Amino acid sequence: MRFIQLGLVSVAAAVLLAGCKAGGDNQGLEYAPNMYHSVAYEPLTQITEKDYGVWVNSLDNGRGEYYNSNEYNPFRMNLRLPPANTVRRNKYGWLPYRATNDTTSLRLANKLMNPYEATPAILEQGKAMYEINCKHCHGAKGEGDGKVADKYPGVANLKSDAIKGVTEGHIFHVITFGKGLMGSHGSQVSEEDRWKITKYVKELQKN
Ligand code: HEC
Repeated sequence: MRFIQLGLVSVAAAVLLAGCKAGGDNQGLEYAPNMYHSVAYEPLTQITEKDYGVWVNSLDNGRGEYYNSNEYNPFRMNLRLPPANTVRRNKYGWLPYRATNDTTSLRLANKLMNPYEATPAILEQGKAMYEINCKHCHGAKGEGDGKVADKYPGVANLKSDAIKGVTEGHIFHVITFGKGLMGSHGSQVSEEDRWKITKYVKELQKN
């Protein structure tokens, strides 16, 4: 009797352990596959075996529950590849700013139009972003007297006659790429915020 019990336990243990073997393309025996595989289509992962999970499928369509490839799409992906030369727009439909960091682009930037109007809400948001990103150098009023200006040479007075005359596109381009001694802020301030800051700088220059 003991032997039979021992034998049964050993066989059960062997079966259990056999299920633990996994590696490479073999994911081993899955005891609760719903925890690993999405039944809904996933954009970036596909299961290409048509009969994968057939034993749990309740739909009687002869297919595996976890089969989720789209055979009409490239690489059988569930998400289609965008057509060649597609350009990503942001949520407002704006095309990306693809100018380069050179004097020709700086000159052409004069033709850019600020997509925002100087409404109180935009100016308030522009002010908040100016205070985070520009005030320490250019000062609260844009006079080039921020706390860092003592240590950082040549911070421009944004209310000087020369800079009062620049276009909004010019300011946007300078924030994006920097200019001379000023570093670029393109990677840390979003395009939307750069335009809002630009509106706020123009407002500062009026007073
Ligand atoms: C680390 C200090 C520093 C920060 C931060 C900074 N600037 Fe500047 N900025 C400068 C300096 C220095 C210059 C002068 C560059 C030169 O002429 O060499 C300058 C110049 C400018 C000019 C004049 C460009 C021209 O055509 O001469 C504008 C406009 C300007 N900054 C706007 C901004 C705005 C807006 C921000 C915030 C997003 C900002 N700056 C952040 C240091 C800074």
